[in-house]
Amino acid sequence: MEKIAIFGAGNVGAMTAFLLSQKIEVEISLLDIDRDKAKGVALDISHSLPIFGLHSRLEGGNDPGLVSGASLVIVTAGFSRRPGMSRSQLSGENRKIILEIARECSNLSPDCVVIIVTNPVDEMTYLFWKQSGFDYKKVMGMAGVLDTSRFLYYLDRIAKIDPGSTEAMVLGTHGDDMVPLIHWSTHGGKRISEIVDKEVLDECVTRTKNAGAEIVSLLKKGSAYHAPAAAVAKMAMEVLKDTGKIFPVSAYLTGEYGIKDVFIGVPAKLNRNGVAEVVEIPLSEAELEGLRQCARNVRKRVDDILV
Ligand code: 2OP
Repeated sequence: MEKIAIFGAGNVGAMTAFLLSQKIEVEISLLDIDRDKAKGVALDISHSLPIFGLHSRLEGGNDPGLVSGASLVIVTAGFSRRPGMSRSQLSGENRKIILEIARECSNLSPDCVVIIVTNPVDEMTYLFWKQSGFDYKKVMGMAGVLDTSRFLYYLDRIAKIDPGSTEAMVLGTHGDDMVPLIHWSTHGGKRISEIVDKEVLDECVTRTKNAGAEIVSLLKKGSAYHAPAAAVAKMAMEVLKDTGKIFPVSAYLTGEYGIKDVFIGVPAKLNRNGVAEVVEIPLSEAELEGLRQCARNVRKRVDDILV
């Protein structure tokens, strides 16, 4: 049975463990500094499995040794935003957690693929990669799948275009400067920018960019976790199933799109080794410039937090 290790038994980690245990037959180690919390969540999810005749196996704890033998590690550990905070403001608190987990992974599961969820995700993914010494193709961040799902939701609800026949993507950073591809995205084979009024499209873009903050302000305590968990579970399944399909993930660039030495959201082929390749799709000038601006912004923030 494949083993996945999830760092963080908070809302995102717990929901990710639950989703994966239901969708695939898998062994999951759930790690948290709060050992009893990790044990309790793992036990609670385990109690659900007979209901649907499922055979996944879960264990929880705080022993880093639980990560040994994992083919995939998902990192959700860290603080989440409070109302009014930007994701970048979490850097100071979360960088120490990421550095520690990177050290544990490089010692105990040096060949695994790693998906970072902890915010600010583009910076934390770079930090993990730098500290762990992993091949950059083995490390990616979860953001584009979540942001794209939100974009599709608003295209459906506001622009009334059915997600079923819409091909859309959100690239760049998981932040206010994210880049919904309003020129590249199509519905029924037509560019959405040609079939949806500009004002309506602008509203879809705004709602997508603000979606995370909107949920933080509604929840008052904590941030979104159902959609983030679904997004990272989807990525995990694509990696483990070795599908080679293309998803927007925070991946390391070595010159693609004219960008180097930074992790940002780009289309990437996912397989058992992580990011098989970054795919360069035809972007408009505005989309390409938006992506490059994201890279410059993330690069600056990474330089501020590098050890
Ligand atoms: C979000 O956008 C938590 O970053 C996550 O909701």
